[in-house]
Amino acid sequence: MAEAKNLGVVGSGQMGSGIAQLGAMHGLHVWLLDTDPTALYRANKSISSSLQRFVSKGQISQAACTEALGRLEYTSNIDELRSADFIVEAIVESEDVKKKLFIELDKITKSSAILASNTSSISITRLASATSRPCQVIGMHFMNPPPIMKLVEIVRGADTSDETFHATKALAERFHKTIICSQDHSGFIVNRILMPMINEAFFTLYTGVATKEDIDTGMKLGTNHPMGPLELADFIGLDVCLSIMKVLHAGLGDSKYAPCPLLVQYVDAGRVGRKCGVGVYDYRKGSEPIKASPRL
Ligand code: NAI
Repeated sequence: MAEAKNLGVVGSGQMGSGIAQLGAMHGLHVWLLDTDPTALYRANKSISSSLQRFVSKGQISQAACTEALGRLEYTSNIDELRSADFIVEAIVESEDVKKKLFIELDKITKSSAILASNTSSISITRLASATSRPCQVIGMHFMNPPPIMKLVEIVRGADTSDETFHATKALAERFHKTIICSQDHSGFIVNRILMPMINEAFFTLYTGVATKEDIDTGMKLGTNHPMGPLELADFIGLDVCLSIMKVLHAGLGDSKYAPCPLLVQYVDAGRVGRKCGVGVYDYRKGSEPIKASPRL
């Protein structure tokens, strides 16, 4: 496949907006699609301020920032992705919702286009089988936030072709990322290991072993992690963490992956982390710290 020129990104939340920004910074024309206009508005603001931070740190010039912004288009109309060479899906972590989108993308995009998913855990083989082009479907798992984090985890489905793999690797390298490759098993490499640790941190809080602050400090200073597991869960989004645990539990069939009831309760309460202002911690300015019982 010739080098991609036009990138489509579907879902303009934390991940999609960062992936779109990366594409624009590396010379691709980018369409960022979301069904929610408010999400597109937020993405526009966050991309502008992130690019401006790159300028302030001297990592890109003001001209490069302006050019990148000029390469981005925001839309709620899926038909605008018709001319994309490469599409990265970054919508909600639900297999049914993603499959519906892949069916639609398969219909409207050109036959040569590659359909990649940024899924954290869902089977690429099953997403691919919803399309008429399983050899052109692949997992391209960016880390959060995509413009900063160095890693891309590439996941080949059962039918992913070598050509699709090489085009995906080339795109990740164009973004200056380090690549790791995983077989298509629930959670792949990173979340297979990370999410059970985060879930265990919730169990540690739930069973009253320690406060959230001590759990996070323990893991930061005791194991040299830059963020504690509960802080990290808030950063990722508790809804995303819960969805991944459910995929691990269903896909690997072991009770050790059962989501902690406290994680489930926080998500039920709408406390999904930084993106809504409150999760395990409270990020709203001037608010009292939440004195939630560590038990349900
Ligand atoms: P998010 O909740 O911040 O954003 C999801 C966006 O998708 C929302 O703006 C929503 O309006 C939009 N959306 C939902 N259905 C849609 C559809 N049918 N068509 C178009 N837009 C639609 O979610 P986030 O955190 O960006 O995650 C997105 C994906 O990336 C998930 O699959 C997640 O597992 C994965 N991921 C998340 C990471 C994280 O740290 N949050 C890290 C790596 C991967």
